[in-house]
Amino acid sequence: MQATWHLPDGRQVTASVPEGQTLMEAARANNIPHILGDCGGNLACATCHVILDAAWVAKAGFPGPLEDPMLDVTDVERKPHSRLSCQLTMTAALDGIVLHIPA
Ligand code: FES
Repeated sequence: MQATWHLPDGRQVTASVPEGQTLMEAARANNIPHILGDCGGNLACATCHVILDAAWVAKAGFPGPLEDPMLDVTDVERKPHSRLSCQLTMTAALDGIVLHIPA
């Protein structure tokens, strides 16, 4: 399975992501800039902020009740399709997902 990150400088990075790995963990494993994941995926830091590509919103879903308020404290202001990537776990349904790194 794969995910693609669009970086603020215009570059794109596509990497293999095993099923069950969060997209925060995958970003860190692939040195994606700006994805720090300081809290280890515990919804306590908001340093894993990504913006879903519009084509993937329906499959990836919307933030849950614990994630949503954390999106109000991201470094870069949230957008309508913002998510915390520690809350996105790779599954077959998300194979090929495209994420934008906010800047
Ligand atoms: Fe801290 Fe996602 S890694 S909120």
